Amino acid sequence: MPEARLSRRLYAAFLLVEGGVCVADIGTDHGYLPIELVKCGKAPSAIASDINPQPLEKARANIEREGLSLKIELRLTDGAVGLEDRAEELVIAGMGGELIAEIVRKAEFTRKKGFHMVLQPMTKTPELRRWLWDNGYRITCEKYLEDSGHFYTVLSVHYTGESTEYTTLDAEIGKECHRVGLDNDGAYALSCEIKLRLYDLNNKIQGKSRAGISCDAETELYRGLSAILSSLERN
Ligand SMILES: C[S@@+](CC[C@H](N)C(=O)[O-])C[C@H]1O[C@@H](n2cnc3c(N)ncnc32)[C@H](O)[C@@H]1O
Repeated sequence: MPEARLSRRLYAAFLLVEGGVCVADIGTDHGYLPIELVKCGKAPSAIASDINPQPLEKARANIEREGLSLKIELRLTDGAVGLEDRAEELVIAGMGGELIAEIVRKAEFTRKKGFHMVLQPMTKTPELRRWLWDNGYRITCEKYLEDSGHFYTVLSVHYTGESTEYTTLDAEIGKECHRVGLDNDGAYALSCEIKLRLYDLNNKIQGKSRAGISCDAETELYRGLSAILSSLERN
């Protein structure tokens, strides 16, 4: 059972993989995700890639232990460089949002209609969303979850070639359509995240007000986030 072997965060990424013939896990580290994808038959083959030799050796040992060396290829590479010949779907998890955007930007082969990626940023998620929407990628699904006291977002992304319009609030916490019908776990995780954002924003607003600096943008965001929090708490 993959859900028993993966962290909640990686299991959320696992669930969003569509199951391309060859799924590349960029920055694989331990290799757990490609192992589970192949082991449970969601992907017939996979690439476990990393920029650093040490994590790749960790992945190699885990893959060999599972007897999956013929189905999971190891690649020592920066981002998706050199993977265009094989990778039909990408997972990039556990990195900063700006690094993820940079890896995708350099991977020209992801700009093919319908190309699918699962992206799980640890930081700078608003910046990643903005970059994707500005550059022809559509966020088709977004999962919110809590894992060991941390809030995570996992994005399912398809290339369409068309940019997407968005508001500041969309960039901050994702589009409304992804919040419709959230399960209890998702609603709880998002509510906790919004409360933290409101706390930070409140400090910022007070600091700026004291210094006589305009804080209209922060105040508008505060109101928008408060309204979403109320609706999450009502449901
Ligand atoms: C925190 S680990 C995440 C491991 C796993 N993907 C996860 O989500 O649990 C980040 C990994 O990304 C690798 N990494 C960092 N920059 C990279 C890049 N430009 N290309 C490929 N791998 C990279 C690191 O070596 C490290 O193994």
